[in-house]
Amino acid sequence: MKVSIILGTRPQIIKSAPVYAAFRRRGVDCEIVNTGQHYDYEMNRQFFSELRLPDPAADLNVGAGTPGRQVSAIIGGLGELFEKAPPQIALVPGDTNSALAAGIACVKSGVPVAHLEAGCRSGDFRMAEEVNRRLLDHMSHLLLCPTSRCVANVYREHVLADSVVNVGDTMYDSLLKLAPRARASDPASGLGLRHGGYVFMTLHRAETVDDPDALRRVVGAAGSLPLPVVFSVHPRTKARFKEFGIAPRQNVKLLEPLPYMETLGMVSGSRLVITDSGGLQKEAFWLGKPSLITRETTEWGEIVRAGAAVLVGTDARRIERGYARSQKMGEANFRSARRIFGNGNASEKVVKAVEAYLTESGRG
Ligand code: UD1
Repeated sequence: MKVSIILGTRPQIIKSAPVYAAFRRRGVDCEIVNTGQHYDYEMNRQFFSELRLPDPAADLNVGAGTPGRQVSAIIGGLGELFEKAPPQIALVPGDTNSALAAGIACVKSGVPVAHLEAGCRSGDFRMAEEVNRRLLDHMSHLLLCPTSRCVANVYREHVLADSVVNVGDTMYDSLLKLAPRARASDPASGLGLRHGGYVFMTLHRAETVDDPDALRRVVGAAGSLPLPVVFSVHPRTKARFKEFGIAPRQNVKLLEPLPYMETLGMVSGSRLVITDSGGLQKEAFWLGKPSLITRETTEWGEIVRAGAAVLVGTDARRIERGYARSQKMGEANFRSARRIFGNGNASEKVVKAVEAYLTESGRG
């Protein structure tokens, strides 16, 4: 059996790393194909070394460009690769432009697709990711869902896949393994910050950072909270700061994109997380930290319903009120993690589901 994991962005590398390790433990021939959608070292290759992934078998190096150009370059590049050496199945994680393009390239080349993180929905069609994930689910043969709610979404939409499996969340696998080291590390102390005495913030979504007023409101409101803010700045956000002439207040400390362990260490030492990222919401929840989500919707409504996160949009008053609410959140709000996201063995379940799919479909 030969499996290709197709990725190209920071979150896809994080989701894939434990699955690659599980395939290798099982002795499966598994290779990584990197689209290069994220091209800065800090957004891509840094995570390969940190999460112990091998060099990619192929690197398409699509680099900067409009989403349309990136998607078409990935479809073309993967098509050529598959013509020479098609894998038996491609594992495609997440909802990025790379994921959509990989799905299209696979179906055009007759390569079956296993979508990792299938069924995840925010219901917000303004998000490129929502469109990508829905289209990819409909193209995929095997849907690997992280939660029972994701399974329900797939059935509700009558997605016609060959197989739908609730495997749990592979990011949770990684987190459980790395949490003790993250808790023991204290990266914020190097910035002179007290454990539990700062806010950790990330913002990168087009809906938040491409709107100058929204970006100004969020950064201004975060800077007015009674705690210092550590802000790990995505390249897109950095570019918008410059373009819109936004300079955060003095108590907002700007950092380059951080390595994975350092990010988990920052979350683990914080009082609170402010983010528009899907992945970071989950990591905050798993590490027992409240989050304020600067969006109107989330794919991970379970966390909001557990009372561990608040949707605050980009409104300064709601961010203030969310902060006040977060101060009342306690241990009870964080207990449901295992029930919702699996037992930390999602990657093993992915391997089993892929093997079963290939056997049952006669491709094994
Ligand atoms: C992408 C994903 C998003 C994911 C995020 C994690 C899509 C539609 N979105 O968003 O789901 O949460 O990655 O980071 O695929 N840039 C750099 N250096 C890089 C990468 C990007 O400067 O290494 C710049 C690009 O030139 C572009 C901007 O950042 O101007 C956005 O990059 P893009 O890859 O389009 O999407 P992300 O915002 O990173």
